[in-house]
Amino acid sequence: MEHRQKFIAALLAKMTLVEKVGQLNLYNGTWEFTGPVPKDDDSQLKFEHIRQGLVGGMLNVLTVAATREAQKLAVEDSRLGIPLIFGYDVIHGYKTMAPIPLAQSASWDLEVARKCAALAALEASASGIHWTFAPMIDITRDARWGRVMEGPGEDPYLGSAMAKAWVEGFQGSDLGAVNTIAACAKHFAAYGFVEAGRDYNTVDMGSSTLHNIVLPPFKAAAEAGVATFMNGFNELNGVPVTGNRFLQRQLLKELWNWSGFVVSDWASIGEMVTHGFTADLKHAAEKAIGAGCDMDMESKAYLRHLQQLVEEGIVDQKYIDNAVQRILQVKYDLGLFDDPYRYCNQQREKSSILTDTNLALARDAARKSIVLLKNEQHILPLSKLGVSIGVIGCLAQDKDIPLGSWRAQAEANSAKSLLEGMKSLVEPDSIRFAEGYKLTRGDRSFLFELDIIENDETGFDDAVAVAQDSDVVVLAMGEDCWQTGEGRSQVDVGLKGSQQELLKQLLKVNQNIVVVMMSGRALDIAEVAHQVPALLQVWHLGSEAGNAIADVIFGDYNPSGKLPVSFPRHGGQLPIYYNHKNTGRPTTNPHDDGMVFWSHYTDCENDPLYPFGFGLSYSKFEYGESRLSANRLISGGSIKFTATIKNLGPYDGHEVVQLYIRDIVASETRPVKELKAFKKVFLAAGEEEVVSFDIDEEMLSYYLSDGSLVCEPGAFTIMVGGSSAQTQGQELIYEL
Ligand code: GLC
Repeated sequence: MEHRQKFIAALLAKMTLVEKVGQLNLYNGTWEFTGPVPKDDDSQLKFEHIRQGLVGGMLNVLTVAATREAQKLAVEDSRLGIPLIFGYDVIHGYKTMAPIPLAQSASWDLEVARKCAALAALEASASGIHWTFAPMIDITRDARWGRVMEGPGEDPYLGSAMAKAWVEGFQGSDLGAVNTIAACAKHFAAYGFVEAGRDYNTVDMGSSTLHNIVLPPFKAAAEAGVATFMNGFNELNGVPVTGNRFLQRQLLKELWNWSGFVVSDWASIGEMVTHGFTADLKHAAEKAIGAGCDMDMESKAYLRHLQQLVEEGIVDQKYIDNAVQRILQVKYDLGLFDDPYRYCNQQREKSSILTDTNLALARDAARKSIVLLKNEQHILPLSKLGVSIGVIGCLAQDKDIPLGSWRAQAEANSAKSLLEGMKSLVEPDSIRFAEGYKLTRGDRSFLFELDIIENDETGFDDAVAVAQDSDVVVLAMGEDCWQTGEGRSQVDVGLKGSQQELLKQLLKVNQNIVVVMMSGRALDIAEVAHQVPALLQVWHLGSEAGNAIADVIFGDYNPSGKLPVSFPRHGGQLPIYYNHKNTGRPTTNPHDDGMVFWSHYTDCENDPLYPFGFGLSYSKFEYGESRLSANRLISGGSIKFTATIKNLGPYDGHEVVQLYIRDIVASETRPVKELKAFKKVFLAAGEEEVVSFDIDEEMLSYYLSDGSLVCEPGAFTIMVGGSSAQTQGQELIYEL
């Protein structure tokens, strides 16, 4: 560490103000665009700026050859030869796609999260990438928001655990290793609470929600040593987060004592003018650097105005020096000063990508991310022998949609389809396919809108005929991956096109229908769920989607996923989440006198169709006695909470044992329950295990609106179960 400080101090001392500002400038390459393309985008000028030492990093420069070319300009042509850092959105894979992050979160398996991030890092670093703009750890409660697929779901505790695992996976124990990359905790902060779920919209939020729901995953990422943070597009309570001094400087850099660097989101510095927060780009540069935003992605505000702001005495040079120091530290830790071309190894690029090992890891992660929501009459798992299966739906044969909308360099149509996966496990002639419905047409890409085909019933007759001749139907439903992701919020979270109409027709000829739901959000699937005996939520599972789903359908893997988000009965319930407050008139009307003066809807139940933490197995898990080692916890102490879980069979399997607490009376009201621990345990059929958790003050604490962490004396309920809705509780008294 001492050498690093000396090296950076010596380099900083040599740099001119112009060269320092250059380090704060992050340009997009010309290979890909992940934001609005500036009218004046000029790649030749960008390369010239690199030669002049006016660029600190590039994003979307792809392959070893391209990064080597750009790096050469910086290292060999610029005066000080400071290497560029290359960033890219390696969200859930580079070429081998793991499940989307929301699906990984549904595994509740931190080893899965770690391995998926490590795989992404292995492939990205083999292609010249140093830095990923992930993990995205925005908690959200609103499925209308397209980016829910990119994050860990609705809960801060699960979100914090996933954040830590993803950071550890991307960065490993040594950023200088050639198979690890710098991670980036984003978007800091509260982007997931955009009003009405509409992307880039306003965020107005109370301080208690900010501190107790939004910030914990970011604190976890900072404590895990994440190298960088990214702010965001949204404003928070009137201040754009890019110019938010409280978040970036006071909280992140001072209170949390975090030493990495903050990058803006795409042109978000310049967008503070549009927000009405700054008068012009120069004013935006002043506000952003003062607030603690160290690097400017694509707005050119820093390059054009920081030197002048310093020379005019408006901006203190110490902010520039500190930002440069933070950026140089990450470049040093990546080993770029030792060897700027250390990640430019074409042999590794060939040998590390899309290997069988990588695909096997993706398949295992995908299987563990699947959530079984319904399985009446134990229709699942299907036998591999002697069963005729009708596989229906365009999503069943689609090889592109499972890749998700943040697919980096995955080849189009490279995923294993559901149909392929199923055919690989049984006699091919036991399976017949019919498309049934079409879902989309037109250009499907990251940048452009998607046309959803409305009620086209031309494929119905074939599909009904297949269903009629089959013992079981496997019907793939859901949404196109390009209905999810950035810029893809929807007011209607129901099923598009003629999918539901087709289901009605199929039910007329065959009741044995297994629905496989492919989506990047909690869709409104209530009607489907009521009509069919079996329902699997499979998300967008990546390169090995079809194989993983088939493994579950045929029982080669006993499903173990649990929902990281609540599934609504109706889109009108959004935002919906399990850790809600009790209110003064909770939903259950104690008098049952038919009066209306309770917190409810007149046209829908309050609770979700499927709650946070819910997921079935092919086995039944029974929760036996739970107990506390003591009923009073004294300040500074710790007690044990144990629960007996039994796998009643018939299959070996995993269960996610979840521990929730309720703080009955507090200075600021607390939710009816909060997840505070979980353990994913494996039990053989018939096996029983006592699972124990340590209860301490930290688990009972919460943040007051002023940001202080408190644990207040009084009564708590400690609950355990296999879902947020099925819990049994014990009372605990906490005393000072
Ligand atoms: C995008 C996203 C951000 C991403 C960045 C670079 O607009 O908001 O998450 O990392 O730009 O692609």
